[in-house]
Parts: sequence; structure tokens; C-alpha cells
Amino acid sequence: MSKPLSAETMAIVKATAPSLQKHGVEITSRMYERLFADPEIRFLFDMAAQASGEQPRRLAAAILAFAQNVDRLEAIKGAVERISSRHVDTQIKPEHYPAVAYALLSAISDVLGENATDEVLNAWGEAYLFLSDILIEREEALHREKEAA
Ligand code: HEM
Repeated sequence: MSKPLSAETMAIVKATAPSLQKHGVEITSRMYERLFADPEIRFLFDMAAQASGEQPRRLAAAILAFAQNVDRLEAIKGAVERISSRHVDTQIKPEHYPAVAYALLSAISDVLGENATDEVLNAWGEAYLFLSDILIEREEALHREKEAA
């Protein structure tokens, strides 16, 4: 697992998360605009939408909410299980994570405007990487369990 986030990074993430969550719809639509520009990523969501009957509108909101709890990992254990198993079902792979990072950071930059300083974007980039590592590790374990069964 990646090393824990510094207290400073956490403080920046926590300070900016509420204003990002307030603009949830804008963040989500900007994220998807960027994500879906890549046909391979769009395909993953199209397939998932067919399976579950709805688009994953809550992805951005989940990342924001999740990031606020990265200093209390026990609080997000249940969510990590649910998300990882959904990702395994929908064929999400480690190499898909950077596209979401790029889309998220661009959306944050658009929504926060001049308040999206390098410091803020770096803190969010670190928090996203940290969360990605947790999910990727769990998803790899689930794949191994599936293969062994
Ligand atoms: C830190 C990173 C991520 C977080 C926090 C996250 C969060 C979530 C959440 C909360 C769900 C819904 C789970 C449920 O059914 O209850 C979900 C599903 C999904 N995620 Fe992620 N995700 C992340 C990364 C990614 C990446 C990198 C991709 C692919 C580009 C992706 C694609 C999907 C898809 C296709 C679904 C299924 C949507 C559906 O149920 O229709 N996610 N994710």
C-alpha cells in the first residue's frame, strides 16, 4: 500500500472538499466529458450501464466523499469492498485509473478556478493515488480469489 498522506495534504483535501461537493453536478459533468472523450473508457461505462440499468453518476461524488475519509480507513472499509467488487464485475483495470485522475483534476481546476493552486491540485492528486492503490490492491485480491475458486 502507498504511504499514508501527510497531515498537510489531508488538511488541504478536507478544506477544499466541501466546496467541490457543493458543485457536485458540475464536477461530475466535466469529469464525464473528459472521460468519455476516450472511446475505451466510454465503452467500460456503456457496458456497466447495460448491466446495472444506470450510468454511474455518483463516481465523482464518491471520490470526493471518500477522500475526506482517507485518514479514517476503517470508515471506508465497506465502501472499498462494494466499489472493488463492482469494478471487478465491470472489468476495471489498474491502467484505467490515470484517466479518472486526469478527468478529476481537470474538473477540480475548472470548478475552483483561481483557487485551484498547484498546492491544491497536488494534494488532490496524492489523495486520488492513495485511494486508487487501496482499490487496485483489493481488486487484485478479488481477481486472485475468483481464479482460485
Ligand atoms: C478512487 C477511484 C474510484 C472510486 C472512489 C470509484 C467509485 C465508484 C463507486 C462508488 C461505484 C458504484 C459502486 C456501487 O455499485 O455501489 C463505482 C462503480 C464503477 N466505477 Fe468506479 N471508482 C473509482 C475508479 C474508477 C475507474 C478508474 C474507473 C474506470 C475508468 C471506474 C469505473 C466504474 C464503473 C464502470 C462502475 C460501474 C458503474 C455501474 O454500476 O453502472 N471507476 N465506482
